[in-house]
Amino acid sequence: METILDVQNLTIEFPTETRVVRAVKDVSFQIQKGESLGIVGESGSGKSTIAFGLFNSVPDPGRISGGKVHFFGGPNFLDIKGETRRKFYWSKISMVFQASQNTLNPLLRICKQVDDIAHAHRLAKNKARAKAFELFDMMHLDGNRVMNSFPHELSGGMKQRVSIGLALLLDPEIIVLDEPTTALDVISQASVLKILNRIRKEREISLIFITHDISVISEVVDSVMVMYAGRVVEQGPAKQVMRYPSHPYTRGLIRSIPPLVGEVDYTKALKGSPVNLNNIPSGCPFQSRCELRIPTCSEIEPPRVQLDNSVEVACHLAKMEATSQG
Ligand SMILES: Nc1ncnc2c1ncn2[C@@H]1O[C@H](COP(=O)(O)OP(=O)(O)OP(=O)(O)O)[C@@H](O)[C@H]1O
Ligand SMILES: [Mg+2]
Repeated sequence: METILDVQNLTIEFPTETRVVRAVKDVSFQIQKGESLGIVGESGSGKSTIAFGLFNSVPDPGRISGGKVHFFGGPNFLDIKGETRRKFYWSKISMVFQASQNTLNPLLRICKQVDDIAHAHRLAKNKARAKAFELFDMMHLDGNRVMNSFPHELSGGMKQRVSIGLALLLDPEIIVLDEPTTALDVISQASVLKILNRIRKEREISLIFITHDISVISEVVDSVMVMYAGRVVEQGPAKQVMRYPSHPYTRGLIRSIPPLVGEVDYTKALKGSPVNLNNIPSGCPFQSRCELRIPTCSEIEPPRVQLDNSVEVACHLAKMEATSQG
């Protein structure tokens, strides 16, 4: 299998007046051709920062303080600058930003935005427009109407689908979608998920699907990475992680999914709020919210251990269970 993305020990920091906040710490993952990854975690866990890190475009004052990003077995992308980097972006990899429905240019009709992308990448305008029609059709959008509309004339769900269509315009091999369904009602959400699955199958494209909503993740990805306080706490095949979550945080996230029928059982839901990145205690960052914590949790940060089902987890209890079984 061809590895199309290899991320090793990505670490990203934001200096503040008093200290340096490590928003992403030692994140590593690989994606094989056609495979998709979900990144899940609560607000502030570092999901969007990872996405920006992949493209070496972390917003100021952030900086990548460590790690490597290799696309298609090439050199470290974090060392590549200027025009080469810009060309690579969109044509090989592309990103649909968080709240991307608001990142469309409000002053330009969609067709002009298509022309701009074509111009920037020296693609014939008519070819780009024909391609956009095809993609919008695939997104169940009326191409004529959409192309001649300003963004404010489209609904949120339509704008989200337009953003995904534009990101696919240059046939990228990987597309990063940051919270693509979060601002949508359930019907539009289901429609976007269905479209993403179709794109995955028909175009053999890889998705990196970022969301705080673990309930949608298993529908579109092969593997999942659960983030807490900038660290990966659990990582592995999505089906395994969803069926047999090993980290108490993952279990809490899954238990917090409201049931389709009946009442929400708040006693099972995840309690407390995410740890303050300015003040992470020593040991496990999740300790203050963990009902299973043991004294070691406040002393030593849990190392990652590989379980039998190909899942990796950073929890002292999982390590003990793995050791006692092995
Ligand atoms: N521009 C910035 N300046 C300072 N700190 C930042 C900045 N952007 C992010 N951070 C820090 O990085 C952390 C992670 O932010 P990030 O946006 O990656 O989280 P997220 O998981 O995408 O959250 P959400 O689900 O709300 O989108 C934040 O909690 C914050 O401490
Ligand atoms: Mg985000």
